[in-house]
Amino acid sequence: MSAQSRHPIPLLTPQLPERALLQPYLDRIDASRHYSNFGPLNQALEERLTAFFAPHSAAGVQVVTTSSATTGLELALASLELPPGSRVLVPALTFVATLTAVLRAGLVPVVCDIDPESWLLTPEIAEAAITSTGALAALPVAAFGQPVDTLAWSQFQQRHGVKVVVDAAGAFGSQWVAASDIAVVFSMHATKTLAAGEGGLVVGGNAAQLTSIRQMSNFGINLDPAAQLPVGMLTRVGSNAKLSEYHAAVAHASLDGWQAQAARRREIYADYRQTLQSRCGDKLQWQAGETLAAPTLFCVRLPDAERRERLEQQAGSLGVSTRRWYQPLLHQHGAAVQPLVVLATPNAEKVAAGLIGLPFSCFINHTQIKYIADIVYSAVTNISNTHY
Ligand SMILES: Cc1ncc(COP(=O)(O)O)c(C=O)c1O
Repeated sequence: MSAQSRHPIPLLTPQLPERALLQPYLDRIDASRHYSNFGPLNQALEERLTAFFAPHSAAGVQVVTTSSATTGLELALASLELPPGSRVLVPALTFVATLTAVLRAGLVPVVCDIDPESWLLTPEIAEAAITSTGALAALPVAAFGQPVDTLAWSQFQQRHGVKVVVDAAGAFGSQWVAASDIAVVFSMHATKTLAAGEGGLVVGGNAAQLTSIRQMSNFGINLDPAAQLPVGMLTRVGSNAKLSEYHAAVAHASLDGWQAQAARRREIYADYRQTLQSRCGDKLQWQAGETLAAPTLFCVRLPDAERRERLEQQAGSLGVSTRRWYQPLLHQHGAAVQPLVVLATPNAEKVAAGLIGLPFSCFINHTQIKYIADIVYSAVTNISNTHY
């Protein structure tokens, strides 16, 4: 890359629908004068998303929107109605919201190790962990967008009576909900592929659970005239976690362009990975699993912490942003984060030591990808005179 064309390469550049594409949905808000509280755009969005997930779910699923994936996770955990202080398995390598959702639901996270290849908490790891901790629930995560096996988790749930909620915040389009008895939570944050700015969805096949989550998203107020309690009375303690009509409008426009954006993301991701692989070969390790339908991050593992630090320094000095995604690990955030049960996490620590997020967006081009690959090559081989 020439000196003139060197410019900062940001870590992520969100792509939300432009104003003109929002207009028809905003017009519908003006006409309905309905701005929140399960309005018509929100209802239509839930119907569109139910149709999106339906072909991948033998038993049928429903969708409930929330104000974020974090609130969706909190309410999905609350819907399990576990005794306060019950233990919930979480993987060590995930975004902090996985942990805070458990704590804010009045439950105790049990930090578990991950599979060394998929970098995920698996039912096999969870099985050993419930024996040693007596956990009553598990919150596996589709880390880096890599989907979890909901059928295997459903079998785990049935076999052990341990409830499962899946955090698939960054996996919209890659994570399906094949099992009918597990709630799966997605994010519509600006950095995700189905972006509303802020927002979340809970997808599941248990109608009573989804109704409870919807009710809790509206403080816990009963709105059902057929229920035993009068309308307006609190059935349980909820929160305000509703999706506004404005966020639903953005989500609709985002969904209109989702297939095209997903295809672009796949194409860029494949080029990026191929370019890095041919430049750096077996010095890089990748998360094992399926090719993602709509990647949002680009993450790779370097051989050790020393080379990662070298890469961070070199990239930083050249205006190329990097991020140690999901670090510190969940149990390394300090004394303010408690109560916490921590199991041995040797795989998570090993994977995290070399893990690095590189710039990724729909706007990154092949020249930039080659430039980044040169920087990574220089860092992993310690050749300092690489010509950028
Ligand atoms: C694994 C995971 N869980 C939860 C969240 C939180 O999602 P939200 O920002 O919609 O609350 C994220 C956000 O990136 C995430 O990556």
